[in-house]
Amino acid sequence: MAGHLYRWLDERLKLESLKIALLEEPIPGGASWIYVFGSVTLFFFLLQLITGMFLAIYYSPTTDHAYESIRFIMDDVPFGSYLRGLHHWGASGMMVSIGLHMLQVFLYGAYKRPRELMWVVGVILFILTLAFGFSGYLLPWDQRAYWATQVGINMVGTIPLIGDALVRIIRGGQYLGQMTLSRFFALHTLFLPWITMVLIALHLFILRRVGPAGPWDEAQASRFSEPFWPRQVYMDAVAIGNAFLIVAILAITMPAPLADPANPSDTSFTPIPEWYFLFYYQLLKYLEGPWEIVGTVVLPILFFLALLLLPWIDRRKERHPASRRAVLAAGAGFLTLVFTFLGLSLYEVATMPRMDPSVLRGKALYQELDCAACHRIHGQGGLVGPDLSYVGDKRDRDWLIRHFKDPQAVVPGSIMPAYNLSDEELNDLTNYMLSLRKH
Ligand code: HEC
Repeated sequence: MAGHLYRWLDERLKLESLKIALLEEPIPGGASWIYVFGSVTLFFFLLQLITGMFLAIYYSPTTDHAYESIRFIMDDVPFGSYLRGLHHWGASGMMVSIGLHMLQVFLYGAYKRPRELMWVVGVILFILTLAFGFSGYLLPWDQRAYWATQVGINMVGTIPLIGDALVRIIRGGQYLGQMTLSRFFALHTLFLPWITMVLIALHLFILRRVGPAGPWDEAQASRFSEPFWPRQVYMDAVAIGNAFLIVAILAITMPAPLADPANPSDTSFTPIPEWYFLFYYQLLKYLEGPWEIVGTVVLPILFFLALLLLPWIDRRKERHPASRRAVLAAGAGFLTLVFTFLGLSLYEVATMPRMDPSVLRGKALYQELDCAACHRIHGQGGLVGPDLSYVGDKRDRDWLIRHFKDPQAVVPGSIMPAYNLSDEELNDLTNYMLSLRKH
């Protein structure tokens, strides 16, 4: 039955030659677990494509509704939190797998002649992946998104001569706002996916033309070869299955974060970028004043140039690590720096003063009791009562507690309702009020 169907299709679609092109590609030296990361990266790209399309059903790319639409996905859409979790952790998964894939190619010298073009296209795909991460971060339009993007755009502004013009193009105007969100959304969901798909096709086309490099030992590589199907396909599938399992578990146990809505006037927020930008963020902290430009312009340009030109920098024919000591030492030095800065940054984030849990409970209470119906904090809420943005500078604990217990007794004629709160709730709400200060 299956054989009959296959013959029927083969007669009409010429499957046999397709099968040879797709599955019988010879791998010099045979299949190996070390070759799985390219397929895993491709899998993550497809996962992002699919979860992204479903997120787009609910997401609204306007500054008025973006945050609310993400809230809706998290709280009301069936499996919405899981869907967003997959997209969030899938992005991290793609970063890890593309990193491992590049590391393998680097270690094996697989970028050398005649595979320079495949490497160059691969480096561009890596840059596109970073652009996906940066543009996607803004879309939830929460405090993290707003302030981290602000930092990123300010960095572009330090580029000499063209910096200001470039910032205006990226931001779409004078301020980070609707124009910025619109273009980041278009970039993230239309421009980048299409460019990436074309380049992935090109990457795979070149792979089919020159074939995989195989082991670094040429004698071993030419001794025997094995077709892509079945063993390499099996290894790739197992690796993809495990990668998905990890991301699926993370999506269930650690939902994607969503901070408070973006608030351009609350400059007290400390932005923290995604972990894959953290090492760079840490590096920038050490380069201040006249050195800043070294971090924002000189080093990134040198890094990406070195990456793109690697096949011409390391151009000797031998791929064996023993004969490429200088290049491998440079790579190891770079990775040591990355992980050192990442470690330092994670340490700083972990030891950063955290919000007092009582303040957090007070903040939740403020939302629950709908104080925002009458009060405004940093531009959000009603105008019946006084603005509470900096009430912590104005009132002390004793005053606040007496006022909450009986507003009319403290401010005669006040229309603020008296709330029947427990001592603990009173304490939490007061702590929250006291935390609202100018810094
Ligand atoms: C019906 C509208 C209304 C609601 C709801 C309301 N307030 Fe008020 N609030 C007022 C008014 C009007 C004042 C000014 C008169 C006064 O001080 O009592 C005020 C004053 C205050 C002050 C003193 C501010 C200052 O600068 O003197 C604080 C603090 C405060 N409210 C907190 C809260 C909190 C917390 C909630 C929610 C639990 C809340 N309010 C709910 C109307 C309201």
